Amino acid sequence: MALGIFDSGVGGLTVYKELSSAFPHTNMFYLGDTARVPYGNKSPETIIRYSMECACLLTDKYHVNALVVACNTISSYAVDKLKSVFGLPVLEVIQAGAEKALQVTCNGAIGVIGTIATIRSNSYVNMLKELSGDTVRIWQKACPLFVPLVEEGLITGDIPRLTIKFYLDELMKRPIDTLILACTHYPILAPLISELYPQIRIVDSATVMVEKIKQMGILVSESGRREILVTDASPAFESLKTMLVGNIRMKVIELRETGIA
Ligand code: DGL
Repeated sequence: MALGIFDSGVGGLTVYKELSSAFPHTNMFYLGDTARVPYGNKSPETIIRYSMECACLLTDKYHVNALVVACNTISSYAVDKLKSVFGLPVLEVIQAGAEKALQVTCNGAIGVIGTIATIRSNSYVNMLKELSGDTVRIWQKACPLFVPLVEEGLITGDIPRLTIKFYLDELMKRPIDTLILACTHYPILAPLISELYPQIRIVDSATVMVEKIKQMGILVSESGRREILVTDASPAFESLKTMLVGNIRMKVIELRETGIA
């Protein structure tokens, strides 16, 4: 049994980190498509095509038995296609994040921040409405500069602080009490977001994925093999990887076109 976890870059490591410590004996392979990050400002067709290539590598070369889409952008567009093409369990982050937000909100006013593509898809709005029976109020905001900040390792100090304020000050004038970090890169900025808006409850899908996988009961104990795969190595990725998950072996791989449209 092996899990294949993937994202456009370093962000999905926030999900990998939680899964790795919750399931120490499960084999896990993480793929970050660092050569092509960000996905969040690309078209749905390109996001789907890139996702197919990531999943293909993990299934063909690493023989994973389940895919964890550690990316909200991919989860917003490609999950149905991944399920039908690969015929494996495909876990996505949106439902888990929406369920958690509905549990923690006291006033039913929820903010959602994510990439341009995720916000444009309305995936969280639709999921929150469906799960709550349309009883919540939702405000969304795309924050496209957060991903490059994180990928560059610019996660403390004035630049990320001002960028967070630039995107979130207006949103925080709404009556929201809960903020969904609808991008797996954003938990890395969560300490700063909490410092700036301490009244807000933050929900990130990384932590709630552990529960989801436990409920599915699909994991068995094995050697606990771990590997981090990237499509391009950069010093910034390397140091964030070390900060988040320690000194796990990292390998640069090449993705191939799948021809799946
Ligand atoms: N971490 C990803 C997400 O959750 C993608 C960010 C990007 O590549 O733009 O949406």
